Amino acid sequence: MTPPRKLHIKSYGCQMNAYDAQRMVDTLAPEGFVETASVDDADLVILNTCHIREKASEKVYSELGRLRAVKDEAARKGRHMNIAVAGCVAQAEGSEIIRRAPVVDVVVGPQSYHHLPQLLARAKSHGRALETEFPVEDKFGFLPAPRPDAIRARGISSFVTVQEGCDKFCTFCVVPYTRGAEVSRPVAKIVDDVRRLADNGVREITLIGQNVNAYHGEGPDGRTWSLGTLLRRVAEIPGIVRLRYSTSHPRDVDETLIDAHRDLPALMPFVHLPVQSGSDRILAAMNRKHTVSNYRRVIDRFRAARQDIAFSSDFIVGFPGEAEEDFLATLALISQIGYAGAYSFKYSPRPGTPAADMQEMVSAAEMDERLVRLQELIDSQQSAFNAAAIGNTVDVLFERAARNPGQIVGRTAYLQPAHVMASPDIIGQVLPVTIASLERYSLLGELATSAQAQGAPATFSPMTTSQMTTGA
Ligand code: SAH
Ligand code: SF4
Ligand code: F3S
Repeated sequence: MTPPRKLHIKSYGCQMNAYDAQRMVDTLAPEGFVETASVDDADLVILNTCHIREKASEKVYSELGRLRAVKDEAARKGRHMNIAVAGCVAQAEGSEIIRRAPVVDVVVGPQSYHHLPQLLARAKSHGRALETEFPVEDKFGFLPAPRPDAIRARGISSFVTVQEGCDKFCTFCVVPYTRGAEVSRPVAKIVDDVRRLADNGVREITLIGQNVNAYHGEGPDGRTWSLGTLLRRVAEIPGIVRLRYSTSHPRDVDETLIDAHRDLPALMPFVHLPVQSGSDRILAAMNRKHTVSNYRRVIDRFRAARQDIAFSSDFIVGFPGEAEEDFLATLALISQIGYAGAYSFKYSPRPGTPAADMQEMVSAAEMDERLVRLQELIDSQQSAFNAAAIGNTVDVLFERAARNPGQIVGRTAYLQPAHVMASPDIIGQVLPVTIASLERYSLLGELATSAQAQGAPATFSPMTTSQMTTGA
């Protein structure tokens, strides 16, 4: 038997890339590849790249510079190391990578991962290989399923891609060019994938897509299913206790999704709903296809369906033409909505996107200053949101042993990490935790008794009033 070959994969960017990285590992497993955490002893290194902002794509070339030294060192020891570039930079700049970086053996776009074994073989016989064809309908249908041991090793929470690509064409964004047009996977294939995951210990599923609520996959009844209908079906799969989805576009929130939040206890009341800006003028220039008031109405509909729902968002500061008053409108929107958290970015012009040709650039100093102000506001909202958990008893899905001995860490419905002292047996279970304190972004607490969990300590426990008010 030939010894296993070692694969080191480094993923940047979004959840789709993280999921794709796992699927590349699954694709190469039948070829005899096993994952290694160290780049030095790898036979194959894959950089799974992101093109979303300039900084993200620049990283690729500096990383390739470092890899050249590692590859040379391996060659000195008589070992051949292959280097592959995958992901959105591969898609956008494939031939440039081949030209600029002779160290690269394979360039593979996000729609071609099922061809990785052939591409490696081609690189061996012809020196180098490039494939950036797209789109492929449900490329995941061509990939070998993950092995049970791989699923178990990855833990109790898993992503499943249900949709890929985007037809929205926001003027700042590369995704419609790097991932192509929206493609939805058929319901039956998603259900099969989730079943396999659940059978091997996965308890939480996050359905992912670049624009996940544009999902319009073929249902088993031959009709087109929406994300809300798909969530209902996935919620029925035995073993799945929590469901999430990401990332949504405000324009594509339909009644089935709102109803799913109303009806499905497994669907977590935490929605990432990027708005980018609070100014209608800027939203129009971004081609977001929604106004501020459309967005507020969508938030209200979610809140009407589920009172405990919380939101996070993405913001871009310094989009071309953004004046101080536009930025103030963004701050005002943030104050009105009240977020549990958000990602914020300085606008980065991307080659080939319409916004890259827009004239009125905001100065770097102004962008820096706006980003600080926006992040201060978001941080204060996030801290208040986290602090509000103290003293409450909340459900936590336990994921793994924490760094501190004896501690187990899980997540609340709002993805806040929560730590308790407990036996590892609780991993995979949802249990009520009484939150005692907050340490940076982590909640610390104790497993609640079932009486506390039901919110009825006064009747069932012999506590004194003073104990009750201190939450003992
Ligand atoms: N499909 C998702 C996420 C796209 S990328 C969505 O529509 O929300 C994630 C985030 O990166 C975006 O929401 C946006 O805030 C940010 N982003 C995208 N392009 C950018 C650019 N050119 N400059 C700065 N931020 C950008
Ligand atoms: Fe990019 Fe806009 Fe599509 Fe999101 S909705 S992926 S920001 S084009
Ligand atoms: Fe980046 Fe591509 Fe995702 S550009 S954010 S890896 S879709």
